[in-house]
Amino acid sequence: MGQLPVRRNFSLFFLFFFFFFFFSFFCAASSFNLSVISFDQGYTHLFGEGNLVRSSDGRSVRLLLDRYTGSGFISANLYKHGFFSANIKLPSEYTAGVVVAFYTSNGDVFEKTHDELDFEFLGNVKGKPWRFQTNVYGNGSTSRGREERYRLWFDPSKEFHRYSILWTAKNIIFYVDEVPIREVIRNEAMGGDYPSKPMSLYATIWDASNWATSGGKYKVDYNYAPFVSEFSDFVLDGCPADPLQLASAAGCSDKDAELESNDYSAITPLRRISMRKFRQKYMYYSYCYDTLRYATPPPECVIIPSEKRRFQDTGRLKFGGSHKKSSKRRSRVPVATTSDRQAAA
Ligand SMILES: *[C@@H]1O[C@H](CO)[C@@H](O)[C@H](O)[C@H]1NC(C)=O
Repeated sequence: MGQLPVRRNFSLFFLFFFFFFFFSFFCAASSFNLSVISFDQGYTHLFGEGNLVRSSDGRSVRLLLDRYTGSGFISANLYKHGFFSANIKLPSEYTAGVVVAFYTSNGDVFEKTHDELDFEFLGNVKGKPWRFQTNVYGNGSTSRGREERYRLWFDPSKEFHRYSILWTAKNIIFYVDEVPIREVIRNEAMGGDYPSKPMSLYATIWDASNWATSGGKYKVDYNYAPFVSEFSDFVLDGCPADPLQLASAAGCSDKDAELESNDYSAITPLRRISMRKFRQKYMYYSYCYDTLRYATPPPECVIIPSEKRRFQDTGRLKFGGSHKKSSKRRSRVPVATTSDRQAAA
């Protein structure tokens, strides 16, 4: 008789945890407090004549890819640390071969020693979901890719979601909405591989038929053109700095302190749970577990035993599809991210 209340408590306990995880994942705390700017306040057109279309209120732009060209924009300033963020909606229907990239880089200033932080969205055939990857490069570490690949828990072509890159002297966090999906904590052993020089923010859409979908098996089909991506509610919260004048970045200490005290700069315990959940469920490749590529994981890797068992030796899950081996060749055009250029080489 005495067992019944115990059992009831037990199921209540599970019920509690079910709701706890559910809410922590999908409503990972309240929204960030962000100051949104218009397109012209922070950005300029980069390439693709006619394929960047401003909204009448200036709050958003559309980037188009058609059979003649892709398109892109770039921040007017370079920033030494910052929070770079936008609401993004990706092209729908058949999008194989299409890449939409949202990234920071200084590749056009520092050819051999550039820094870069990437979100890259990889299109797919009709009925199959978009995937995306994140990557980190520092001081020209192009031979040491640090990519992770994931699926999303929603259809990114149906509505806008916020994608954000936080970069401070201490850590880098990639966010999808308020869910931190990846954190890189600065580690002495990383040396120059941790981005350190001022970077611009870029957004581009372009044809990556030769690698983006199933390793290049499915190409862009221009019968579905134009492919339309939309960007709105821009946030560029960082310290504008001249990349060639180290002294200018020295004036960033106040802004750095402000940045580091923002709620998005530290992962709360609740957000850490949602990050763990996301990675357990939606990450299908991580360089940290790819022991064929890195016999010893790079120094910033935090090895989680349950993840390691899941990924075994290759760092990827079976359903992850092909993952082209990278090479070192790259072009000087800053339109594609370093990952794009390497995979395409
Ligand atoms: C970056 O790379 C350059 C050229 O290889 C090197 O001289 C410099 O010391 C590196 N900087 C850092 C911070 O590692």
